[in-house]
Amino acid sequence: MDRAISVLRMNDTGVFTKPGPHQYPHQWNWDSALIALGLSHVDLPRAQAEIRSLLSGQWHDGMLPSVVYHSIPSDYFPNPQFWQIENSPSAPSVPTTGITQPPLLATVVKLIYDRQPIHDFAGEVYPAILHWHRWLHTARDADGSALACIIHPWESGTDDSPRWLHLFESIQPEALPEFQRGDTRYVPATERPNRTEYERFIYLIDVFRKLNYAPRELLAHSPFLAQDVLFNAILFRADEDLRALAISLGRPTDEIDGWRRRMQQNFNTRFWDEKIGLYYDYDVRSGRPIPVNTASTFLPLFAGLPSKEQAQRLVEEHLLNPVEYALRGEVRHWVTTTAKTEPTWEARRYWRGPVWIITNWFIIEGLRRYGYDDLAETIQQDSLDLIEASGFREYYDARDGSGCGSDDFSWSAALALELSKFPVPMKAKS
Ligand code: GLC
Repeated sequence: MDRAISVLRMNDTGVFTKPGPHQYPHQWNWDSALIALGLSHVDLPRAQAEIRSLLSGQWHDGMLPSVVYHSIPSDYFPNPQFWQIENSPSAPSVPTTGITQPPLLATVVKLIYDRQPIHDFAGEVYPAILHWHRWLHTARDADGSALACIIHPWESGTDDSPRWLHLFESIQPEALPEFQRGDTRYVPATERPNRTEYERFIYLIDVFRKLNYAPRELLAHSPFLAQDVLFNAILFRADEDLRALAISLGRPTDEIDGWRRRMQQNFNTRFWDEKIGLYYDYDVRSGRPIPVNTASTFLPLFAGLPSKEQAQRLVEEHLLNPVEYALRGEVRHWVTTTAKTEPTWEARRYWRGPVWIITNWFIIEGLRRYGYDDLAETIQQDSLDLIEASGFREYYDARDGSGCGSDDFSWSAALALELSKFPVPMKAKS
């Protein structure tokens, strides 16, 4: 595991840790949460510093942005000049993006809290995380359900997932601002998003900056508005962890209890497809589910949201189904990000098929929570074998385990530390 530690050290700028040395030279939100989790095993003060520096990018209204640039020069696009966040009264003085990412931070702080003496630190960061969750449950609540909406595929963390293609069909950019992609400089274009999708990513940012990132305007006018299973499962789990922190810190829990109650009531009704036995995301603009089978359907296990029967259907009818996710034929590694049955499945393209260590970690934790320990162990071992054979890559080709995307990828290193040194025992759902 010394190699994992050297990757994290190598990507450490002193202020924050880059997700990847060339491809991702700034501070990403959920990457930093996982990096802090990995660092907590070897350098607790540095893990805390990582979280503090992420929180320095928080907006005044509570939004925690997807990227904090920290004024470090780079060739990364989109750069702070492109986002123009200074037109929003809520923007911080540090340059950031104007969108958020899956709220994993509370869960990471809770995981560290359970193992190490960070009571004071937890008390220090608790108000900022609570503020972010409040923003998600209000500024991003389109229908009173307490489910959060995302306005851009990048907010889902699974940027190029085929589930967004459905929404993109109705988005026809009238005019595009001038831009030059930077993401294919270090990674082959065949492993990155296609041009059509990329243009829509950029078009959406242009819409948002014209609306000065005003949350109400965004909810009313963003052409892309979705309730995402992965994002909301992570939020529900993060609320659970935030609540546990509140109790340990002697703070009130009523507000969090209210969010959790409403989410619990609405999650399964909104996302679960009883006929197919899968969770599907929801397109708020068209009022329709997005019927694409991707690994994010397993995320609710991580949050304890499915009933025992639902969990059994997810595992037996889908995860273990050789046509969809289980190993068969050319697919020799767990877990492809998209089911093989999807026509959009591609072995090496970003979020279209490759294996990601982060997705595997969520699934491993989720399976443990429901008592599928053997399967969890198989996926855990396969994840560590992939890293052993191909290094700390951003994602892996499920056919031969070869690496794709960025090399020396921080969260693969952080999760290798987490998975190999301290597997987290989860309680079975009562
Ligand atoms: C990619 C991923 C996103 C991640 C970022 C930095 O854009 O899709 O989830 O946060 O890279 O690693």
